[in-house]
Amino acid sequence: MRPDVRADFSYPRRQQGGHAQHMILITGATGTIGSDIVRQLVTEGVVVRASTRDPERAEFPAGVEVVRVDYRDPATFGPAMVGIEAAFLVGVPGPDDTGTDAALVAAAQVAGVRRVVKLSAVGTGDPRLGVPGSWHVPGEQAVRDSGLEWTILRSNTFASNTFSWIEPLRDGHPVPNLTGDGSQAVVDPRDVSAVAVAALRSSEHHGRTYTLTGPDLQTGRDQAAVLAEVIGRPIAVTDIAEADARAFMVAAGLPPAFVAGALTGQSFIRGGHNELVTDDIARVLGRPPRSYANWAADHRAAFAGMTVPS
Ligand SMILES: NC(=O)c1ccc[n+]([C@@H]2O[C@H](COP(=O)([O-])OP(=O)(O)OC[C@H]3O[C@@H](n4cnc5c(N)ncnc54)[C@H](OP(=O)(O)O)[C@@H]3O)[C@@H](O)[C@H]2O)c1
Repeated sequence: MRPDVRADFSYPRRQQGGHAQHMILITGATGTIGSDIVRQLVTEGVVVRASTRDPERAEFPAGVEVVRVDYRDPATFGPAMVGIEAAFLVGVPGPDDTGTDAALVAAAQVAGVRRVVKLSAVGTGDPRLGVPGSWHVPGEQAVRDSGLEWTILRSNTFASNTFSWIEPLRDGHPVPNLTGDGSQAVVDPRDVSAVAVAALRSSEHHGRTYTLTGPDLQTGRDQAAVLAEVIGRPIAVTDIAEADARAFMVAAGLPPAFVAGALTGQSFIRGGHNELVTDDIARVLGRPPRSYANWAADHRAAFAGMTVPS
């Protein structure tokens, strides 16, 4: 371990009398969490390098350095890590992943990156979650074994997943409930990003695995009721049986291994196994996590003008 490995850099260091800049690499920077981390870091004056497979197309705030990273092309990992203080790792875990996180960690080690923060998922390592519960395990292990400072963020289901309701609502259809009476404390992705920012900027979170949840247990129907209240229109909900969910995903052309994983995840929630609320967000951020009602209110415009299902 390098002697300076525990030093904090909890203030922006754009340029310090000829010293190297302290830059943070965000992978998955066009995604839900990565894009919000980029926004938050830029607001805080931190120097950011954002990775995407398509730098020509991606849009980032002014001043952000853009680099091409493609998980199918590990040769792109090394250049992205050069000159980086801390790296945020968003793999695309699933049946097709071939060790992306481990390869990113190896590139970080070679480049002398000090700190890595990995986005993982709630239920990782829980045998009841079966195969999808194993998807993040190798990546988490690579991060823990790296010898670098590390933090793992096991996020719960994002509140923003209900953006998928926009289409059925627009078409006048009920929204699908795939998880029956199972409830979960969905998390506002902005809170996940805020915790990531804290972990990327300080050694304080080294060696921690945080489980990030919202404040309230809610079923899919509960969430629909909250959203209906926010948008001022009724939202009809239809329960989807597992066999129908499977048929729908197969018809949509999704790979069998992905379909099996998704169904296992839904069954895990339906069985009440994801009914946990943690205080990790409050402990890191010093304030309670945002509620689903709060997320819905802040995204009301995205659901505006929806047809009322008959
Ligand atoms: N959704 C949930 O409820 C939930 C809950 C817990 C944990 N998670 C975890 O969150 C992670 C996904 O994060 P997210 O939702 O923020 O991402 P996202 O919105 O799904 O976006 C995916 C990101 O990954 C990048 N990407 C995809 N394939 C890539 C490849 N081959 N090479 C390089 N980059 C690639 C994309 O970048 P470009 O397209 O620009 O290249 C994009 O920025 C997953 O690990 C998932 O397990 C999700």
